[in-house]
Formats: sequence, C-alpha cells, structure tokens
Amino acid sequence: MTTQVRGGQLARLLGQWHALPGRRRSPDYAALAAAVRGLLADGRLPLGVRLPAERDLAEALRISRTTVSAAYRQLRETGHLASRRGAGSWTMLPGTHRVASSGLWTPLDDRDMIDLGVAALAAPPQLVPAARAAAEDLPRYLGDAGYHPTGIIELREAVAQGYTARGLPTRAEQIMVTSGTQHALDLVLRLMLTPGGPVLVESPTYPNGLAALAARRARITTHGLATDAGWDGDLLLGSLRQSRPKLAYLIPEFHNPTGHLMPADLRERLVATAHTIGTDLVVDESFVDLPLDGTRLPPPTAAFDRHSRVISIGGMSKPYWGGLRIGWVRASAPQVQRLAAARVGVDMASPVLDQLVAVHLLADAATIVAARQRQLTAQRDVLLDAVAARLPEWRVTVPRGGVTLWAELDGPISSALARAAEDVGVRLAPGPRFGLDGTLERFLRLPFTLPAADLVEAVGRIATVRYDLDRVGRPGWREPVVIA
Ligand SMILES: Cc1ncc(COP(=O)(O)O)c(C=O)c1O
Repeated sequence: MTTQVRGGQLARLLGQWHALPGRRRSPDYAALAAAVRGLLADGRLPLGVRLPAERDLAEALRISRTTVSAAYRQLRETGHLASRRGAGSWTMLPGTHRVASSGLWTPLDDRDMIDLGVAALAAPPQLVPAARAAAEDLPRYLGDAGYHPTGIIELREAVAQGYTARGLPTRAEQIMVTSGTQHALDLVLRLMLTPGGPVLVESPTYPNGLAALAARRARITTHGLATDAGWDGDLLLGSLRQSRPKLAYLIPEFHNPTGHLMPADLRERLVATAHTIGTDLVVDESFVDLPLDGTRLPPPTAAFDRHSRVISIGGMSKPYWGGLRIGWVRASAPQVQRLAAARVGVDMASPVLDQLVAVHLLADAATIVAARQRQLTAQRDVLLDAVAARLPEWRVTVPRGGVTLWAELDGPISSALARAAEDVGVRLAPGPRFGLDGTLERFLRLPFTLPAADLVEAVGRIATVRYDLDRVGRPGWREPVVIA
C-alpha cells in the first residue's frame, strides 16, 4: 500500500477541487481542505498515508504555498491530519467517524442521511421466519464442534442445485460456503494470485473488488466498458491476449455498477481465450438472481468451461440480505479442498446458524426473489423518472437487471457533487470509486435499493446542489487525466 502520496498524485485525485458550492464564500484553503476530507471519506485517500510536502503540492496545484499551509492547518484542527515537525503530515480521521457498510467513512450522527453509497436491499419479511426455523434445526448440528470449512452439507447441496437449475450441473463437492461474496473473492485471490500478480478487471468495477486486489498488490490492467453497450468482445479478448494476466475478475451478470449482462457468445469466446493464454477467470455472479423486465439469462460462464478455468462466486446479499454474510465459491472439487485449507488460516468456517437461515431462504427462493424483482423494477422506474425530470442532461442506460444505474453526468463533477450532496444529507459513491486513480469523474452510480420516496427525495437534493455547482462558476474545467 502507498505510504506516501506525491504532489502530482494528490492533484490528480483532487481533480476539480475548486468546484464546491458556496465557493465564493469560502477561501481557497478551505475548499482544498474540504476536498481532501472528501477523498478521505470516500476511501480514495487511505488513512495513515503521508501527504506531500506543502511546496510539492503547491507546485502540483499551481497555487501558493500559503494556501496549502492554511489547508493543512485546517485539516489538523478538524482532526484529519497529524503532523510532526520535520517528519511530515499523515492522514487520519476524527473520532466522530466510523466505517459504513460501503467501506466509506461516515460521521456518527447521520441518522437523516439518505445513503446511496450502498447498493443492497433491506431484509425481506421472510427473514425472521427463516431464522426461527433455522434455530429449530440447530440441535442436529450441536453434537460436534461445528466447524465445517467447506460449509454445511445442506447449504452446499442447495447452492449446487441452484447452479444445476441454471444449466450448469454441479455437485455439493464443488461448492464452498464463505462469509459473503467478498470473502469468497479474497480467498480465491489468496489461493490463485501470488502477491503482485497481474490481473485484468473491468472499468468501472466493484470498488471492494479493487480493494481485495489491492490487498494482494495486484498489477491491474483494465477493460473499459462502454456506457451503453458494455463489453467490446474483440477489445476484451485482445487485452487478455496482450496482457496475459494470471487472473481476470469479471462481473458478467448485471455488472456493478453499469448493470450490463454479458451475452452468451462472448462468454464462450472469453472462456476459450482464457484457456489458451492460461488465465483463470473469477466470475462474480452477485446479481444473477435479479434480472428485471423478464430478461432471459445466458448460460453461466462456467457452462463453457472444460478445464477448470472458471471460478464462480456468488452469495445471498443481493437477492436476500447482506447481513447474513453468506456467500460461496463454485469450482472443481480439488480447488474447493485447497480453498478450504487456505481458509483455516483466515476464519476456519462460516457460522452454522446463518447457513441454516440461508437454507430456509433458498427453499423459498421462488417467492422471495420474485418479490425482490417486482420491488426493484418499481424502484428503478421511479429513479429513472426522477433523474429524467430533475437532471435531464444526464444520460442513463436502463439496466435490465441488478440494482444500480450508471449515470453519465454533464461534466467531470462526480466527486465535487458527492461532497456537496453530503452537506444536504445524501451520501453518494462518486464515479472514481469504481476505477483506478481518479478516472470516471463523469459518472455516478445510483442504486435503486431504497424505498421510492427516498429515491425521489435524494434526486431532488442532488439536483439542487448540482445547479449550485454551476451558480458558483467552474474555474477552468480540466478534463480528467485518464490513467486506465
Ligand atoms: C459485484 C459484487 N461482488 C461482491 C459484493 C459483496 O457481496 P457480499 O455482501 O456477499 O460479500 C457486492 C456487494 O455489493 C458486489 O456488488
């Protein structure tokens, strides 16, 4: 992990730091300090990194050193910076912050905040009955120590059956239960990627996937998804052949954040290419249960695999509830055994009771998932209407599944907008969170997982601060530096 951020790097991350509402009323140093706080809050500037020397940052931003000095002083006063004379200044957060489920830092007193930083639904009504039924089942498991490194057999069977029903014959031995899809990804990376290994990901992609890759110090190359069309097959396969990564992490099912669905022919070509060049495919199927508008699913990516090149990961969080922390890996039986061995040094096994709850929810999948799809369709349509009415310059492709819209904004303003929205009680995950190093400032992810009334209210507030950004003038927009 970076322990020091240089002037040029921080300048790139700061992007259009001038573009904050009320800028006429606040001096440059305060705007700069606010922009650094914004980067810390959304996780792009990690905690404990050394900021550039004042002179270095002043040069990179082409502003006076006095301004940087004053900004650093303010950050020290608000508890965002610790300095030691002669040694430098490190980022920190005041004690009034905590980590939110999105991985973002949030103030503690934020009850009225509409949180669009998280793309997950509240629990379905079937959860409590499932938990009660699970408690009734528990005595069957109490006769031994309760550690099941690959998961309890009932859940492995239920998950395997789900794959089989999707056209991918699967045995329970090919399933390992994990504590969420994120855990599944982390374990797979531990097993299959040596530290510093080369990986290809989509851009944009799921930020916590990037975090898992960063923990392995992966060397990342990206394949850019087109806003309206998704993957360009020839380009994707070309990048794979050229960069020959050890592994590719892809989200073919209602991709987070764009909502795209990879077509069957590309899946087939992808698996064939991966096999030829020796790349393993880690396919994240978090949203596979959530097609909307009756969209038909192509065969699972692993259905084209004859050589154990595809490892599928998925879980309960999106169709059911994130709080369950139940996910899984589908791989070959020997790979599952190796993953289970790797897990012993991490968390040993997942909780038995939670796995039993998952078994009961999966038994009721048809009812629960259909209700989720109806709810998401209605909320998506409300959100689309609200954006069309209040922010008509934004371009949005209607997603045929999943839980998010990926909006193309009318300028490279995503981070500035997220900072401004926080002041009016809306938390946003700005575009750059979904890419590498400050790109994607023209994009914003908008999940439709909250109730319709909250979505309408949030878009109204976002529209207000959006037009405030214009009223205060935009001092010389620079195009974002494209790194990926
Ligand atoms: C693509 C993707 N993978 C993994 C996860 C994490 O899922 P889990 O809660 O099962 O760990 C998410 C959650 O947003 C996601 O969108």
